[in-house]
Amino acid sequence: MHKYFAKPLFLGKKVEFLPECHSTNEEMMARAKQGLLQEGHVIYTDYQQKGKGQRGNAWISAPGENLLFSLYLQPDYLLPGQAYYLNIISGLAVAEAIALTAGITAEIKWPNDVYGSDRKICGILVETIIDRGTVEGAVVGIGVNVNQSHFALPEVTSVRMISGRKQDRYELLERIMVILEAYVLKLKAGELEGIIGAYYRLMRWRGEVHEFRDVSGIFQGEIIGIDDRGRLTVKVNDHMRRYDVKEITFVH
Ligand code: BTN
Repeated sequence: MHKYFAKPLFLGKKVEFLPECHSTNEEMMARAKQGLLQEGHVIYTDYQQKGKGQRGNAWISAPGENLLFSLYLQPDYLLPGQAYYLNIISGLAVAEAIALTAGITAEIKWPNDVYGSDRKICGILVETIIDRGTVEGAVVGIGVNVNQSHFALPEVTSVRMISGRKQDRYELLERIMVILEAYVLKLKAGELEGIIGAYYRLMRWRGEVHEFRDVSGIFQGEIIGIDDRGRLTVKVNDHMRRYDVKEITFVH
C-alpha cells in the first residue's frame, strides 16, 4: 500500500497479496467456507491463471499491469433479493475512484461494468453465500484494466489508454476501498434512495434511446433505470419492459 488519502475503517484492514493464483474470488470463497475471514479482507494478485468473469466467461488480464482483487463482505442486513445492491455499490465505487484518480469520465453499464470512452475498463463478479434467509457473505471480485495497452477485443480498453498516463494501481485500489466502504455503510444504514440516485447519475445510456436485443429481436428503447429487483427497465413505445442480466444485450 502506498499513499493513503483516508483510512477505511474495516475494508482492507487485512490485505493479502498473492503473486499469482487461479482466481482471487476462488481464493476468497475457499477461506470464507472455512470460516477464516473477517469482513473487509482483501486478496489481490498480479496474475490469475483462471480469472472468472460473469456468465461463466474467463477474465483475462496481462500480468502485473492491472488491478485484480476480491474483497469480503458480510451483508447479513440484505435479503437475497437485495443482493443486487452489492453490484450497484461496487460499480459506483470503481467508477468514482477511476474518475478521481485518473481524471477521466467513467460510467456504469448496467448492472456493473465500468466503461470509459464507450469501452469496458472494469468487470465485477459478486458471489454470495446465502444462509438463514440473508446474505451471510459476499465475495466482490474486481478486475480493472489499469495499465494494459493492448487488448484482443476492440470493445475493451484501460484507464491508461483513455487518460494517456500510466497509473498507480495501488492508489486506485485504496480509493476504491475508501469509496466502497462509505457505500457499504450507506447500504447498511438503509440509505437506498441515495445509492440509486448516485447510480443513475453514472448509468450509461440512461434517458437516451438506443438499440437493444432480446428474445424477440432488435428494438429501440430508452433506459429508465432499475426496478426493486435490480432488473433493467426499458421504455419501448410507452410500455415498460424489465430484464434480468441474461435477457438483454446492448447493441448501440
Ligand atoms: C466480468 O465478466 O465482467 C467480471 C470480471 C471479474 C474479474 C475479477 S478479477 C478479480 C476477481 N477474481 C476473479 O476470478 N474474477 C474477479
